[in-house]
Amino acid sequence: MKEWSREELVARAMQARERAYAPYSSYAVGAALLGESGRVYTGCNVENAVYPLCTCAERVAVVKAVSEGEREFVALAVVTKNGGAPCGSCRQTLLEFGEDIAVLIADASGTYRETTVAELLPDSFSATDLS
Ligand code: THU
Repeated sequence: MKEWSREELVARAMQARERAYAPYSSYAVGAALLGESGRVYTGCNVENAVYPLCTCAERVAVVKAVSEGEREFVALAVVTKNGGAPCGSCRQTLLEFGEDIAVLIADASGTYRETTVAELLPDSFSATDLS
């Protein structure tokens, strides 16, 4: 993966956020995950009346990508109304596929900050611990 646009990835996450199904929290989240192939996999949060079954936008994007055969990722953009960061479960799910994945955390205006999975989840447990 050579050139990619941070602004474009954030824009894709903003579009995905419009499809959020969040009738319980009213907290809409959109994600866009850029694969090494150049393909972008989007996700939104999908809630459920049985609250623990709510699925985060980031994990929807990861599951879509992996189920389509992509396992190497360059970056993830996530958009919320107030620039909320990925939850712990999503951090761990992303770590499974690489600690160097860039993470762009944006608010509804598109303003974002950039970090990495490693920075978001220090001192983590991963596949290396099982070898
Ligand atoms: N949510 C996400 O989609 N991603 C996160 O990383 C944090 C939380 C969703 C889950 C739920 O639908 C709503 O935001 C409120 O927690």
